[in-house]
Amino acid sequence: MAMVVMKSDIDDLALLGGDPAFSEPLHVGRPNIGDRTALLSRINDLLDRRWLSNDGPFVQEFEQRIADLLGVKHCIAMCNATVALEIAIRALGLHGEVIVPSFTFIATAHALQWQEITPVFCDVDPATHNLDPAKVEAMITPRTTGIIGVHVWGRPCAIEALSEIAQRRGLKLMFDAAHAFGCSHCGQMIGNFGEAEVFSFHATKFFNTFEGGAVTTNDDELASRIRRMRNFGFAGYDEVVCLGTNGKMSEISAAMGLTNLQSLDEFIRVNQRNYRQYQQEINRLPGLSLIHYDESEKCNYQYMAVEVDPQMTGLHRDVLIKVLKAENVLARRYFWPGCHRMEPYRSLFPDAYLSLPQTEKLAGRIMILPTGTAVGEPEIEIICDILRTAIANADGIRKWVIA
Ligand SMILES: Cc1ncc(COP(=O)(O)O)c(C=O)c1O
Repeated sequence: MAMVVMKSDIDDLALLGGDPAFSEPLHVGRPNIGDRTALLSRINDLLDRRWLSNDGPFVQEFEQRIADLLGVKHCIAMCNATVALEIAIRALGLHGEVIVPSFTFIATAHALQWQEITPVFCDVDPATHNLDPAKVEAMITPRTTGIIGVHVWGRPCAIEALSEIAQRRGLKLMFDAAHAFGCSHCGQMIGNFGEAEVFSFHATKFFNTFEGGAVTTNDDELASRIRRMRNFGFAGYDEVVCLGTNGKMSEISAAMGLTNLQSLDEFIRVNQRNYRQYQQEINRLPGLSLIHYDESEKCNYQYMAVEVDPQMTGLHRDVLIKVLKAENVLARRYFWPGCHRMEPYRSLFPDAYLSLPQTEKLAGRIMILPTGTAVGEPEIEIICDILRTAIANADGIRKWVIA
């Protein structure tokens, strides 16, 4: 990738007329792709078999491999995590109100609202970016039937505290673990907590099956219900025993999953290397803090989430993103502006923001930087040079942006 190596002066910045640092866009979540030969060989196999969907051999093998990896009894592979969430929510019998963070991808809330269950948005702990258990307790009403925690950035929720609340108040607890494949909590793999956990294997996740997801659970009965719901409610060839939908994973997705599983350790190694480099460089910059991953646990290091303090940097997060975008570094704002400020929730709950001060603050400050196998040491060095130069010249940039 052609690039200008140094970005040391304000005039070097592309936003102010310099040449972009990168000739091609650097994306957040550029797909990791494992061994192409192994993938093509599996595709040949599935074409030869003419078994393309409906619980084929690759899906069955994929489910077993994931269950073994996570040490969980059941893995039910799905077409994506959104449908997996919808099915898990229905299989658990959630209704009325369910407590969720607003600081999450919109799919967590939509999976509830889609089936006319009210998502009740709860604030997060600014230290962890995950549901604040004390605030969860305060949101429980007689209509509450469950809690969905989201392991944001793959960092586990306050699982013990949430479990204790759920048990004491007679609520179901499940987790949106879309970010947390390959992560552990107290030495146990994510996938084992709550009544069920849901993973995403979307193309932008560090481990992907093109599109895909899975529900994992240690509950035999729940697993059978989820399997039936995934396949229109079929219990046998001709017998439909419940309401269901089509959540099946295709064989080609499972072929990609089996192939990428072979490279899982390598994907994580690259993410960890990138994280350590970002950590070294970013922690030297005033007003920027990269999230901390607990390296004593298993982590996937998937999200290079940086909190921007506008007072200390002299620049708002959105201005920094503009500076980076001009250089072809497509940093993203997650989860701006928070689910509660997106439709239909903005219209349904116009006052929700009043109880979400930490969510509002974080949504205005978090910036995600590129990582994954498409990004290496020289790219990260230049991204950090751009940030350093921008912050050192904050006054000049502000004047330029305002003018
Ligand atoms: C927290 C969270 N939940 C759910 C989803 C939905 O996943 P999918 O795209 O597989 O439906 C995502 C996807 O990015 C996510 O980040």
